[in-house]
Parts: sequence; structure tokens; C-alpha cells
Amino acid sequence: MEQKSIGFITGGSLKTGFLVRLTVPADAIQEGGFVVVQSGNYKFYGLITDLRLKASDPRFSEEKNEVRLQQDIAVLLNAKTLYTELEILPSLMQKVGPEPGTAEYAQYSQSVDSHPIPVKTLPAHHAIVRIANAFDVWEIFGDPKDKKKFTIGMTREQNHPIAIDLEKFTKRSSGIFGATGTGKSYLTRLILAGLIHSKLASVLIFDMHDEYSFGDTSPDTNIRVPGLKEKLGSQVKVCTLGIGTEIKKKLRPDFDLVIEQQDILPEDVEMLSRELNLRETTSNTLAALVRSFGEKKWFKAFMELKAGSGEGTLEAWALESKIFPQAAESLQGKLARVYNKPYILEKAPINCIQQIIETLQSGCSVVLSFGKYQSDLDYLLVTNILTRKIREAWEKQTNDFHGGIGKQPTPLVIAIEEAHKLLNREMAAQTSFAMIAREMRKYFVTLLVIDQRPSQIYDEVMSQLGTRISGWLGDDADISAVLSGLAGRDALRGMLSRLQPKEEVLLLGYGVPMPLPVRSRRYDEDFWKDLLGDQKTNPQIKKSNIDWMFPDV
Ligand SMILES: Nc1ncnc2c1ncn2[C@@H]1O[C@H](COP(=O)(O)OP(=O)(O)OP(=O)(O)O)[C@@H](O)[C@H]1O
Ligand SMILES: [Mg+2]
Repeated sequence: MEQKSIGFITGGSLKTGFLVRLTVPADAIQEGGFVVVQSGNYKFYGLITDLRLKASDPRFSEEKNEVRLQQDIAVLLNAKTLYTELEILPSLMQKVGPEPGTAEYAQYSQSVDSHPIPVKTLPAHHAIVRIANAFDVWEIFGDPKDKKKFTIGMTREQNHPIAIDLEKFTKRSSGIFGATGTGKSYLTRLILAGLIHSKLASVLIFDMHDEYSFGDTSPDTNIRVPGLKEKLGSQVKVCTLGIGTEIKKKLRPDFDLVIEQQDILPEDVEMLSRELNLRETTSNTLAALVRSFGEKKWFKAFMELKAGSGEGTLEAWALESKIFPQAAESLQGKLARVYNKPYILEKAPINCIQQIIETLQSGCSVVLSFGKYQSDLDYLLVTNILTRKIREAWEKQTNDFHGGIGKQPTPLVIAIEEAHKLLNREMAAQTSFAMIAREMRKYFVTLLVIDQRPSQIYDEVMSQLGTRISGWLGDDADISAVLSGLAGRDALRGMLSRLQPKEEVLLLGYGVPMPLPVRSRRYDEDFWKDLLGDQKTNPQIKKSNIDWMFPDV
């Protein structure tokens, strides 16, 4: 295996990282390179976080030797005195074992010593540094062909495939970040496809912009990419908000989502304070409504109270309940925006929310398309009600399971685009999402948060995100948010702001053994062929449907 040295250790510490004198031209090496240092019994794995030009004496760099010395002497002197120094962020170390393939190696690979552990010691002076080869990548990131692994990208220097552990990925909430256009939605499609195909978890996707079910055409390249339903067929159910709503104007979903008036609780209304411009008196009015009509009937009863005075009017109820009639009237007026939503009915033809829950419990995934309901009000209201019901169902199933009744719940990942709308400082306390990020992994539910402004997500939620995958970010506050709570964050800051503007991401956190920048895997037909083998577009989607929708396919 290729073992070409790029330099040797000249100094460093556990806190500041290792310093390396480069013995190859500086332009052969880039920030973010995955390097290995072998010293004594250990191999150290790390990332190049900085390169700097150095001279053994400033005189030799500040003046041109060629001007005052003979050409050949100047060249020799330059080679001796001018060099590049690398800074390496050490992440893992591992005992050197016997040669792979030998009988000793088989025994060693079973032992505790064979696993990489966080760096606790230093390599010796002058230890050789080299770029990681395919075997090193395999030792740290595992075999991409493993069923529980999913190749997410390639190392930037040598194109070695880098896989993430899907099981670990779903064990804690995770985040995909990056400025607009960096490839978050494409990467999310890749990961969700891998996750759904692996059958390790069900996925619920809140698809605000109709990107995930039946594909999308890239505005940059005009190339159409397939959606998850198209390729994964019966493993994915598509649900639209409202009765009879169509996706991309023609495709019918597997089922509709209608919310019943009785599902709306006072807390759902309070969460809409900003959207509905609610007053501080709202909580009192809502509490009085629940006291008068009960938790299930308050919304309908309140909205049906008539104007005017006398029995059965809003005014009479307000006076009897010791509420200012004007406050009640104002709230009723504001709630009309919710009451008049076509997807909120007194009674749904079937229990749609239960249908979604059962689909997810059975191991299928659901893409919820918002269709024409694209306002923040729709997004906040629907995601919150649905997630609350899901949380209750998973909690109950887990408690029953621990009590010896029924089976363990299917792990569930809830993917939310534009997550800061639901997880900002103000909303986090009121929605179900912050609680899921905090403690629902015990109940087999985690979040996949997708956002371009991570600094707007509540810090307490950010700190709970295990795996973080981030594309280019320019804003300092966003970079700090993505790196919060992670080791080596100062060294990694610059790397995030110097990623390619597209299709390059930094892998960080719990789900990856060490931080690493990678070139994202391409989301295209080749990806689907790799994932599904020779299986063509799923037979469950009628070819005719695809033909009229995308005549160029
Ligand atoms: N993995 C990928 N494979 C193929 N093309 C990609 C990939 N990642 C990004 N692209 C290209 O970059 C464009 C932008 O990607 P994408 O829509 O995922 O960005 P985004 O980060 O979700 O942006 P926004 O925040 O505006 O939603 C795509 O239209 C596509 O052309
Ligand atoms: Mg997007």
C-alpha cells in the first residue's frame, strides 16, 4: 500500500495540535487533508487545519538569496532554510497491529486495542507524516459495503469513499447545514434514500417545497432528479395537506391529511403568537375556553359563538367567564385564519393522523407535502400538531414495550427543512421539536434538522445534535453554532468558511469517528443504480405518470 511521506513532526501539543515540516511542495497539500502519523506502537489520525510558510531564520525569507548568492548555492540554501509548516488537528490514535490478512491480524482485530480511541499522547519528534490511504480510511470509517453504512462522499485528495454509520446517525438528532444553494436538499435526499433503503428507521419528511416525493428540476443545471417515492415506491407513502390536493399539479398522493378541530389545543394557538399577532391576554382567554367547553370542544364552540348580545353570544360567554369581551372578540377574529383553513375540518372522513402514525410504525416512510399551503402559519401549525401526536404514540409504545406489552417501536427520524422556524429560541419551548431533540431518543424518535441559518436555532437544541454535516457557511455566528460543543472547533472554523460553495461538506460529531471534509456524493441516476442495483424505476409508480409529468425523461 502507498506510504508516501509528506513531512515529519517538529513539535506541537495535545491542546494546540501537531506541527509538521513539509517535505513536499506546499501546493501538493491542502487544508482538510486526512493524514496519518506513525510513531512507535501507535498510528495517529488527524486533519490538516493550517499551512504556513516558514524560514529557519527570517533573513532567508525576507531577502531573495538569489540576489546576493550564486544561483546553485541559493537553490541549496533555499531548500535547507525555507519550508512549509502544517498544523494538524489530531483526532484518533490506534495501536499498530500485525499485517492485515495474517492469522495474528484476525485475532488482533477482535481485541479492544484494535479500535481507534481519542488521542491521549503524542508522536515522537521526526515521526513520519503521510496522507491517509484506502486502508486507513477503511480502518477509521469502516467498510462502505457494510449494510449499516452509507457512502456520503469521497475524500477530496484521493477520492476514497467515506461512509457514515446509519444506525448511529439515527440514534441521536442530527443536522444538515450550509448557506443557500450549497446542496443541503440534495444531500438530505441522498441520506434519506440510504436510510429508507436500509430499513433501519422510518422517516417522516415535512416537505415544504415539494422536493422529496416526485423529484425536482435543478434551477442551476435544469437537470431533473428523481424523488424518493419514484424510486422507493411502496416503502414511501406520499401525503398531501387538504382533501384532493395534487402534487406538481397532477400526481395524486397515497393519502390526504386533514386535521380535525378537536385536535387543536390551546398550546397550538399560543405557538402561533407571532403569526396571528396574539396579545398577552390570549392565555387567559384560552384557559377560560377550555374550562367552559373542554379540551376537545373549545375551538369549535368558541368559533361558533355569535356576535351581538344575549344568550349564546360571544359577549355573554365572555362576561360569564370574566374575560374582557373585546379580548375574546379579537381572539375569535384572529383564529378565523386557522378555522377557515380548508384542511381543518370538524370531522375528517378517516383519522388521517392515525393513518400516518400507523404507516410510520409499520416501517414505511411518509413525505408530507404542503402543496399550496406554504405559509409559516401552515407549516408551524401542522408540523406541531402532527409531531405532538407522534411523540405521544411513540412514548406510549415504548412504555408498553418496557412493561412487556407489544414490540419495540420502529425508530423514526423526522426531517424538517427550515428548522429555525420551529426551533428558534422563542418557539423551541413551545413546540414538540425541542423536546424530541432533547429526550426522545429514549423513545426511538430523532430529528434531522436542515437549515441555512444554524445560529437561529436555539443553542440548547443545537447542542443536542449528534451528527452535523455542514456545507459552506460565511457568517461567523452560523459557523460557531455548527461547531458548538465540538472538540477542535477553533481549528475547524476556517475550514467551514473555505469549503467549495457547492457539493462539499464537513462531517462532524457523534455519527462520524473524526471530523472530515468530503466531496458530496452526486445525487443522480448512478446513485440510484448503486443503491438499488439493476432494479429500474419502481413499478408501483405508473410509467405513464412519469411520462406526462416529465416528457423529457
Ligand atoms: N449531491 C449533489 N448532487 C448533484 N447536484 C448537487 C448536489 N448537491 C448540490 N447540487 C447542485 O446544487 C444545487 C443546489 O443544491 P440544493 O438545492 O440541495 O441547495 P440547498 O442548500 O438545499 O439550497 P436552499 O437552502 O436554497 O434550499 C442543486 O440544484 C444541484 O444542481
Ligand atoms: Mg434546499
